[in-house]
Amino acid sequence: MNPQYTPEYFEQLKDSVVWFEDGSLNMAYNVIDHNIEIGNGNKTALIYESEDGKTTEITFFSMVRKSNRIANYLESLGIKRGDRISIFLPRIPELFYIFLGIIKTGAIASIYFSAFESAALKDRLQNSGTKVMFTNKNLLARIERIKDDLAELKNVICVDDEEFVDNYKAQPDNFEIAHTQAEDYAFMLYTSGTTGKPKGIVHSHYAIIQQIASAKLSLDLRPNDVYWCTADPGWISGIVYSILSNWALGITTVVYGGRFDSEKWYSVLEKHKVTVWYTTPTAIRMLMAKGEELVKRHDLSSIRFMASVGEPLNPEAIIWGNKTFGKFFHDTWWQTETGSIMIANTPKLGIHPGSMGKPLPWVEAKIMDDNMEEVVVNEEGNLCLKPYWPSIMRTIWNDEKKYESYFKDGWYISGDKAKKDEKGYFWFIGRADDVIKTSGERIGPFEVESVLIEHPEVVEAGVIGKPDAVRGEIVKAFVVLKNESLASEQLKLELQEFVRHHLAGHAYPREIEFIDRLPKTRSGKIMRRILRAKEFGDPIGDISTLEDY
Ligand code: PRX
Repeated sequence: MNPQYTPEYFEQLKDSVVWFEDGSLNMAYNVIDHNIEIGNGNKTALIYESEDGKTTEITFFSMVRKSNRIANYLESLGIKRGDRISIFLPRIPELFYIFLGIIKTGAIASIYFSAFESAALKDRLQNSGTKVMFTNKNLLARIERIKDDLAELKNVICVDDEEFVDNYKAQPDNFEIAHTQAEDYAFMLYTSGTTGKPKGIVHSHYAIIQQIASAKLSLDLRPNDVYWCTADPGWISGIVYSILSNWALGITTVVYGGRFDSEKWYSVLEKHKVTVWYTTPTAIRMLMAKGEELVKRHDLSSIRFMASVGEPLNPEAIIWGNKTFGKFFHDTWWQTETGSIMIANTPKLGIHPGSMGKPLPWVEAKIMDDNMEEVVVNEEGNLCLKPYWPSIMRTIWNDEKKYESYFKDGWYISGDKAKKDEKGYFWFIGRADDVIKTSGERIGPFEVESVLIEHPEVVEAGVIGKPDAVRGEIVKAFVVLKNESLASEQLKLELQEFVRHHLAGHAYPREIEFIDRLPKTRSGKIMRRILRAKEFGDPIGDISTLEDY
């Protein structure tokens, strides 16, 4: 894809990133090596805290050397520009410098969420044609199980394997960074839609210019900040705002390797004197549920700015944030596909509780009906953005048709329903499709359905998101059994475990209902809209395409 629209805004910002003399640009150089030139070499880049409370600090100098060793190691394996190199690791320091090392070589980096099981990995790895995969001994079995189906996978490397560690340590710590073009692909990340397999969203090196600008503007990052973005780099927020923009700005960044735990989270904030904190509504609601006593045991006065992303941030959470921390959570809106924050309650704009805020200065957003006509103020419609901006996805890997389907009449269609008020604030209403958001994580119903029907007792399954006070939504499955008389609580548990084991721990249906048959169109497509209407007691709407039910 050749961007046809480069906002003037970024022409003016052109010098905010470092171009090589020949006019090429490498994202990883901008993110990490550039810090040496501006005097940040001895500054701490990463403060890593493991689940058991051990802290490791890595300077920018050290990050440069470590990522160089990875880049040299990859070259020793014969990796070439454009090859896909994958990371399947939990949040450990290695993940961060491996990601940057890959990008330095000109290969395309991708990260797979460490909760993924074999079925989720297989689809994604097959599609990407990954050549080299970094994992650890703990997760290796999930790849071993599917290795025979991955024709292009040449090397699987365990970062805790002695042979690798020795080899890595023996690599030179300087590296001639690939002179990639701004439009070359830097990284990709799979995400889910309503139908079909996950989509490999591809981002270019040039995205960094907008990622930096958006972080400055929406997260209020300043040179002496200690910043914590709680997202896992298996999701886009964890890449863009916990590796790329933050380090490009030379900001000391905290990563906590453990699972969510209220007490631990408060301790991390306190111990490292976090000043800027970027998290999700579900995490905020989980903290709220633990009450204020817990908060009072910690000195959290270091916090200067708080922001949130990934799902609607309810006004109650904002009010609680203010009562508890004396600060507001600033909601931000964006998507894997947009590559950076697009709409936000910026510090300058202030808080508009319940609203996503206003488009950033370089974003043109409109609410349109299905005929691409702009709707009037306060009316619900499709949230559309004027392409192209530097961090927009460049393609969908091996699926140009799907990529094209995002665009109509010169607009990018986000897939979200929203409205705009008279003051220009945008309000999220819901997804226009069947994508589920649970705990801020994006799940495609089709993937869950596909795994459920692999179970020997299941004929078919329909999956929807069901509103949940804490998680935003939970995954709910309607399941048709081969033998109705087997319906039992025990079987529900077994099906949940089945999805956990084959797909991912976070994607299993927390609720299952057995049902005789699924509502389908005459062409056999599951009408999840009707499942939702039945579940919530809403009017069923147009059923002219429904097969006899
Ligand atoms: O539905 C919107 C929701 O998350 C979707 C994008 O998900 P993902 O690609 O995983 O990226 C999430 C983080 C960048 C959107 O289409 N979403 C994101 N931010 C918000 C939101 N919904 C409501 N309010 C938000 N602030």
